Amino acid sequence: MKFRASAASALLATAGIANALQLDIQDDNSIKAAAKTIAEGMLDYYLNQDPQYFIPGLLNQNIYYWWEAGAMFGSLIDYWYYTGDDSYNDIVTKAMLFQVGNDDNYMPQNQTASLGNDDQAFWGMAAMSAAEQKYPNPPNTEPQWLALAQAVFNSQALRWDLDTCGGGLRWQIFTFNQGYNYKNSISNGAFFNLAARIGFYTKNDTYFEWADRAWDWTTAIGLIDNAYKVFDGTDVAINCTRQNHIQWTYNTGVYLLGAAVMWNVTEGDDARQAEWETRIRGLLTASDAFFKNDVMFEAACEPRGNCNTDQQSFKAYLSRWMAASTKFAPFVYDLVSTKLATSAQAAAQQCNGGTDGVTCGTKWTQPTWDGTYGVGQQMNALEVIQGMLIKKTTGPVSNNTGGISRGDPSAGTGGDTPPGTPTGRITTGDKAGAGILTALVLIGLLGGAWWMVA
Ligand SMILES: *[C@@H]1O[C@H](CO)[C@@H](O)[C@H](O)[C@H]1NC(C)=O
Ligand SMILES: *[C@@H]1O[C@H](CO)[C@@H](O)[C@H](O)[C@H]1NC(C)=O
Ligand SMILES: *[C@@H]1O[C@H](CO)[C@@H](O)[C@H](O)[C@H]1NC(C)=O
Ligand SMILES: *[C@@H]1O[C@H](CO)[C@@H](O)[C@H](O)[C@H]1NC(C)=O
Ligand SMILES: *[C@@H]1O[C@H](CO)[C@@H](O)[C@H](O)[C@H]1NC(C)=O
Repeated sequence: MKFRASAASALLATAGIANALQLDIQDDNSIKAAAKTIAEGMLDYYLNQDPQYFIPGLLNQNIYYWWEAGAMFGSLIDYWYYTGDDSYNDIVTKAMLFQVGNDDNYMPQNQTASLGNDDQAFWGMAAMSAAEQKYPNPPNTEPQWLALAQAVFNSQALRWDLDTCGGGLRWQIFTFNQGYNYKNSISNGAFFNLAARIGFYTKNDTYFEWADRAWDWTTAIGLIDNAYKVFDGTDVAINCTRQNHIQWTYNTGVYLLGAAVMWNVTEGDDARQAEWETRIRGLLTASDAFFKNDVMFEAACEPRGNCNTDQQSFKAYLSRWMAASTKFAPFVYDLVSTKLATSAQAAAQQCNGGTDGVTCGTKWTQPTWDGTYGVGQQMNALEVIQGMLIKKTTGPVSNNTGGISRGDPSAGTGGDTPPGTPTGRITTGDKAGAGILTALVLIGLLGGAWWMVA
């Protein structure tokens, strides 16, 4: 790990001039400049890897799981959309296309040992954002953004598991990965989110039926409770009768955006639209648990300072999806704008660390840098700050409102079995590294029986 450092910042440091991130949220140019500084800091972790080991689309694999790179490229697609700055587009497009895997559905063989539905979905959601935002298309010979999102959706719809818990997606794709028995909110929420958004783009009702199915299952099984709290997951060994009650910002966010899209597309059907509005308002009320004086924080780990690398990035997604929801369901704007603006300002204050003076830390609730750094910290600040420009953006587009991404309704339906033979024997170490680690600690400690103490 490194801190960002440059000749200029070293000079400022010796001159004793504080080089903290400046942000005036009333001024678009100030927002864009702050976003650029943060994006550059984030990209340092990608571009300054040892060239000997550099693979397009991958962060340092000793520190970051594959999914987080997909999330990061998603934040850079957003960056282009919000700021119009295309400086990083070539890098981003190359990465997004390099990792599609043999079936063009974001299941690259190299990642088999840690590939969960949620991991795959983060890349799929990045591709979906590219389609919605009219991010420049890949060359004709390459898979296209909408088709990639459909490929992820299609491969996951095939995995909808009626054998246990009356439905739902398992966390893991492959039986040999730890966590295969876990059915979790981020996997099902991302599937719901993608279904709703592809439906909006293509106007094909099949996707809305899946979105309804995913929402209904999630609430029926109690992963979302009557107060719209979104819990981490549940387990097929107990037929999903009890929940692991940890709550994360991104789980609320991923369902929020899907619900906003469903509100949008049920326009004209007052009863159904009112139902989605109730759900959206419920999720937003429940999300108050993630704000302290309107500043976002990761309640489950931040106060005790024990967020793992994955969790360090979750605020980015709640920020991203809260902002995006306002485009689909305009009434959401008044419900989130103060929280997002206050959080953006607090995030900017937290970006005054490192030797460059603009490295971002974790705790937006603290006035100065908390000493932590990483891709997640940069991405959190980037998404919440660039989101200040949401009112200035156009779109999201759909097939009949200017969309330019070519789809393929049958893309990516391979992939229910391991994509080819895994390149090496799966070792215990690989298994222990499975996917997004929200619950693995508990599962590991208790031999899978977390519900006995939860
Ligand atoms: C998979 O790993 C091999 C060996 O390190 C590498 O050459 C290749 O570029 C990787 N592919 C992807 C998509 O990451
Ligand atoms: C498992 O849960 C599902 C959904 O709640 C239910 O329909 C099914 O009957 C349950 N199966 C068993 C064996 O209890
Ligand atoms: C649905 O979303 C689109 C895209 O942002 C927007 O143009 C439209 O006004 C929204 N519909 C409603 C009813 O708000
Ligand atoms: C939009 O949908 C129509 C028919 O549903 C299809 O022919 C056309 O190719 C689609 N356009 C894009 C850009 O996906
Ligand atoms: C709608 O989507 C479903 C699911 O992907 C697909 O099977 C069907 O062909 C699509 N219909 C059209 C008209 O594109």
